[in-house]
Amino acid sequence: MAIKVHFEAGVETTSAAARVVFVGSGSHLSSGAQAVDSAGSGQLGRAMKAAGFDGKKGKFVEILAPAGIAANRLIIAGVGDPSKADARAFEDIGGGVAERLQTLESKIVADFSGIADMAVGTDVAAAHFAHGVELRNWRLDTYRTRLKDEQKPKLKDVVLVGVSDSGKALNERLQKVAAGVHFTKWLVTQPGNVIYPETFVEHCRTAMEPLGIRIVVLDDVQMKALGMGSLLGVGQGSVRRERIIAMEWNGIGEGAPAPLVLVGKGVTFDTGGISIKPAPGMEDMKWDMGGAGAVAGCMVALAGRKAKAHVVGICGLVENMPDGNAQRPGDIVTSMSGQTIEVLNTDAEGRLVLCDVFTWAQQQYKPKVMLDFATLTGAILISLAHHYAGVFTNSDGLWAKLDKAGGAVNDLVWRQPLSEPGGHYDQLIDSNIADMKNLGTREGGSITAAQFLQRFVDNGVEWAHLDIAGAVWRPKSGALHDKGATGYGVRLVDRFVADTLEA
Ligand code: BES
Ligand code: MN
Ligand code: ZN
Repeated sequence: MAIKVHFEAGVETTSAAARVVFVGSGSHLSSGAQAVDSAGSGQLGRAMKAAGFDGKKGKFVEILAPAGIAANRLIIAGVGDPSKADARAFEDIGGGVAERLQTLESKIVADFSGIADMAVGTDVAAAHFAHGVELRNWRLDTYRTRLKDEQKPKLKDVVLVGVSDSGKALNERLQKVAAGVHFTKWLVTQPGNVIYPETFVEHCRTAMEPLGIRIVVLDDVQMKALGMGSLLGVGQGSVRRERIIAMEWNGIGEGAPAPLVLVGKGVTFDTGGISIKPAPGMEDMKWDMGGAGAVAGCMVALAGRKAKAHVVGICGLVENMPDGNAQRPGDIVTSMSGQTIEVLNTDAEGRLVLCDVFTWAQQQYKPKVMLDFATLTGAILISLAHHYAGVFTNSDGLWAKLDKAGGAVNDLVWRQPLSEPGGHYDQLIDSNIADMKNLGTREGGSITAAQFLQRFVDNGVEWAHLDIAGAVWRPKSGALHDKGATGYGVRLVDRFVADTLEA
C-alpha cells in the first residue's frame, strides 16, 4: 500500500498511532525521546535499561500503551554512533519500523526534534526515514483472497515531526524514486502468465505516458525486417510474440546531449528452451525479466522526479519456451550486427536477446554511455550470492561512478574481469563454425557471457554490464524489502544520473 507522508510542527495527540523516537549509542536521547521520557515519568529510560538497550543501530525497544503520551505504542529506535548516522542508516531504521508495524498500526508519528546533532541533520534523516518505511512496506496482496484481518497490511500514514521545507522537498523526490522501485518489484513479482512481452509493454505505457515518457515499440515483424535473428530465435518456441520497448525521458529538451542508454534483459519466462532447465526452482525464472523490470522502474523514477537528464531505457522482451518450432542446440543465427552465432545451449538466451538490442540501441540513439541490466548467469550467484551485482565494464571511470552510486544507496556492485576483444576470456567464445558461440566454458560463466555482449558494443561507447541474477530477488528479507523482489537497480541509476548527468 502506498504511504502518505505528512509534516507537522509538533507532536499531535492521536492515540491511534505508533510514536517513534531516536536514541544514539551511549543512550544519547534526542530531545523528542527526552520529552517522552519525562511525560512517562522515566518509563522510557527504565524500558531501555530492562532491554539492555543503549541506542545500538538496528535495535528497537517497544513499549505498548506507553505512559504519559497518547499513542498505542512507543518505538525507541537505535541510531548507533551519531557521527556515523547517515541517510542510509535512517532508511534502514524506517524499514525496520515498517517491518514491525505493517500489519499492526495504520499511522507512524516519528519525532525528529532534537536529532540535529546526529550526523546527517534533521531533514535528511526524516526524509530518508519515511523513504525506508515506504520501500519496506511494499508487498503484493492481489492474489491473496483469504487474508484474515490481522494479516492485512494497515500502515498508510507517516507523520514527520519537526522537519523543514527542505525535508519535504527531499521526501517528495524520494517518493518518486520509491514509485519506480515499486513498479520494478511489481513487474518482477508477477508470474509469467500475467507478464509477457505484450503485457509488459502495456503496463509500461500505462505507468509512463502520464509522466511524459515517449514510448516506441518494435513488434516481431519490424524486428525481422531489421535482421534481429538472434533475439527472434529465442522467442521462436513461444506463442507470445517478441517486443522491444524504448522509453525516452528528455528532461533537458531541445539540444539535449546524446542519451544515457539503459538496456534490460526481459525474458518474461526462461524455461531454458530445448536445453530445458530442471523442474525444481524453475518458477524462479518468472523474474528473468528483472533487468527489464529495473530499467522500467528507473524510467518511472527519473521521469517522476523530472530529472534534468536525457535517458532512454530499452528492453528486449521474449519468452524462452521448448516447442516443436523452438530453436535447437547447434542452430546458427545471424544477429542484427551481421555477426553469426552458434547456439550451443538454448538456455544461454539472455545474451542472444541483448546483443540485438545493443545494436539497435546504438544505431538509434548513439549513446556515449550504455548500461545493461540482466539476470544473465547462475554463475554470478555462485560468486556473489544475492549481495552484489557483478559489473563488467570497458571503462575504469564508469566503474568508479557506479561503485560510488551503488554504495550510497546500498545497491551494491562488485567489479569482475573482462578481456579486451581477442583477449584470453574473449577467445573462449570463438566457434568452430560461426563467428562465436553462445556458450563458454563452465568455469567463469559470467565472464564469457559478458565477453559475448562486449562483441556487440560499438567502439568508443563506455559500457557496463550489470549481472543482477542474484540481486533482483532475495530469499530473505532485507532492511528495505521483504523476501522476493528487491527493486535492485532503480536507486542505483537514480543516484548515478544525479551524480553524473545532473551535477
Ligand atoms: N536466466 C538464467 C540465469 C539465472 C539463473 C538467473 C539463476 C537467475 C537465477 C540464464 O538465462 C541462464 O540460464 N544461464 C545459464 C547459462 C549457461 C547455459 C551458459 C546458466 O547460468 O546456467
Ligand atoms: Mn537461460
Ligand atoms: Zn535467462
